[in-house]
Amino acid sequence: MATTPPPEHLREEVESVLIGEKEIAARVRELAADIERDFIEQDLLVVALLTGTVPFLADLIRNITLPLRLDFMGVSSYGNNTAPGELVFTKELKLEARNRDVLLVDDILDTGKTLRAVIDKLDALQPRSLRTCVMLEKKSRRSEKITADYVGFDVPDTFVVGYGLDYAEKYRNLPFIGELKPEVYS
Ligand code: XMP
Repeated sequence: MATTPPPEHLREEVESVLIGEKEIAARVRELAADIERDFIEQDLLVVALLTGTVPFLADLIRNITLPLRLDFMGVSSYGNNTAPGELVFTKELKLEARNRDVLLVDDILDTGKTLRAVIDKLDALQPRSLRTCVMLEKKSRRSEKITADYVGFDVPDTFVVGYGLDYAEKYRNLPFIGELKPEVYS
């Protein structure tokens, strides 16, 4: 993956820009086109996980011209800032998922534990179909047998921030995806 230096004001914290704004925008348009093709004439309910999906979700749904409903689930991992711990649901769905064609959107598929827990919970609501879309995945760290139907980018096993992803709740507003300097989190 070709990288570029981060903007001057972030050089002490961010090692490099892994995926820039233009590359993200182009890939989001492709994902939206794939989703449109697969969900045509379906009763699309987009279920996004809070909070890391927000910028990605906003860009993705504005590139989808099909009618859709949008809802959120809250799920938090109470570990330290870079290693996941126990999963706790902090917000439940408001809309009915039964007999809907659900597209579950998450920020990053890492070990797969988050998606495993959320998919089990959604399956119990008996949607007609359930597909998953993630902005990023780290293939090397998967411990659950999970694959996403739509994947934006595969990233190396390094801590990434920006475009929704945080470290200690910071960096979510960066318009690019960058690699955090290890000295920031170690
Ligand atoms: P699992 O391991 O459950 O992880 O697939 C999914 C959740 O872990 C967080 N995560 C990250 N967050 N940079 C982040 O900002 C990362 O490199 C990273 N890796 C995992 C994230 O909240 C995701 O939903």
